[in-house]
Amino acid sequence: MTFREIEFGSDDFRQECELRNEVLRVPSGLSLYDENIEEEKQQIHFGLFNACNDLLACAIAAPLSTTEVKIRQVAVRPEFQGKGIGRLLIRDTEQDLALRGFAHLVLHVRMTAVGFYTKLDYGSVDDEFVELGIPHIRMGKNIQPSKDCSVGPSVCEI
Ligand SMILES: CC(C)(COP(=O)(O)OP(=O)(O)OC[C@H]1O[C@@H](n2cnc3c(N)ncnc32)[C@H](O)[C@@H]1OP(=O)(O)O)[C@@H](O)C(=O)NCCC(=O)NCCS
Repeated sequence: MTFREIEFGSDDFRQECELRNEVLRVPSGLSLYDENIEEEKQQIHFGLFNACNDLLACAIAAPLSTTEVKIRQVAVRPEFQGKGIGRLLIRDTEQDLALRGFAHLVLHVRMTAVGFYTKLDYGSVDDEFVELGIPHIRMGKNIQPSKDCSVGPSVCEI
């Protein structure tokens, strides 16, 4: 697998939109293609790809300030969920953002995914609220560039 940034509007970005729509919108009866995603041009898109350049997982980072960034639209392809790919995606995303100088991550986490982020050392910072009809909670984590050189972007066989 390879972790890399996805360029807005590219073929990789089209794969990203398909994945987000399938995993995060269609199950709620919504379509990503009804949304105005132009503002996402300013955001940083990441993906984990297999050797055939198929997108397995994605995440978006939306800077809130020079030090704080919101992670959104985290999705793993359904047939690859529960295999450790989400953990790799978040680890590589954190490392990339830390190297860009961000120090604090925030997320609006679906209640069904709180256990996943708790395992990755995110803490809840607020009460439950509803977004797009789905119960969420705010979670956050402080990050810093890893001193461990072995923790580079994911490049491994799958
Ligand atoms: C939530 C999601 C991103 C997790 O990615 P994943 O690849 O399935 O997770 P991983 O296999 O890397 O799991 C890492 C750890 O978190 C746990 N975990 C994964 N999903 C979990 C969940 N929904 N609730 C509780 N624990 C979870 C795993 O059991 C694993 O624990 P372990 O290390 O003790 O074995 C993915 O399942 C997904 O895309 N779900 C649908 C969309 C979604 O909910 N996105 C998040 C929106 S806030």
